Amino acid sequence: MDLRRVRKEYENRGLYEDDLVSDPIDQFKIWYSEIEEVGYLEPNAMVLSTVDKSGSPSGRNVLLKEVREDGFFFFTNYESRKAKDIENNEKVSLTFSWNELRRQVSIEGTAEKIPEIESDEYWAMRPHETKIGSLVSNQSSRIPSREELDTAFETQELKWRGDEVPRPHHWGGYKVSPNFIEFWQGRQNRLHDRIGYELTVQGWIFTRLSP
Ligand SMILES: Cc1cc2nc3c(=O)[nH]c(=O)nc-3n(C[C@H](O)[C@H](O)[C@H](O)COP(=O)(O)O)c2cc1C
Repeated sequence: MDLRRVRKEYENRGLYEDDLVSDPIDQFKIWYSEIEEVGYLEPNAMVLSTVDKSGSPSGRNVLLKEVREDGFFFFTNYESRKAKDIENNEKVSLTFSWNELRRQVSIEGTAEKIPEIESDEYWAMRPHETKIGSLVSNQSSRIPSREELDTAFETQELKWRGDEVPRPHHWGGYKVSPNFIEFWQGRQNRLHDRIGYELTVQGWIFTRLSP
């Protein structure tokens, strides 16, 4: 496999300042509906990057579950590695790769836990088995075997059969409040378009960045 020879030319109309709306959250929603329209698999998957106490970065996919004027929402285990990172350093980034349209959206901001009531609301919408899965997973911890996980699942599945599974305290949502959002559109000859929105005291302003 020689990845150096893999080369794709990107042909499309590009991204021009006149096409953009002034609020990057609205712009995100426009691009989100366009990637949804092409049937892209899990367009709401985003790489959440965090840094630990020593400054070492790590990234993993999580699913975007809501976008509002005030931020981007995802759900996870509050005792996981990413949660510990956030506890120590609220600065995070989110990266969406929407290759079907040769697009990328990069977001930088701060993460905070959402109110319990909002986590309860989304928990209530999750399928029963998914709730059991979250209940038994001690996310990010070392475990001896797959069997142990399956056994824990079966035990809890029996226990909660026919009953509503309560949200465990170790599970809930985060909101990422953005201060920078970049829209990247792949173009020919690697002369891609990049427009970065920065949050200033006057509100959002955007500038073009060199590819
Ligand atoms: C497409 C995709 C979506 C995922 N969505 C979530 C999610 O919404 N929440 C979550 O906790 N983990 C999600 N995961 C699993 C995480 O990538 C990760 O393995 C897990 O959260 C543990 O991360 P940590 O040990 O760095 O905290 C997803 C994985 C993939 C591949």
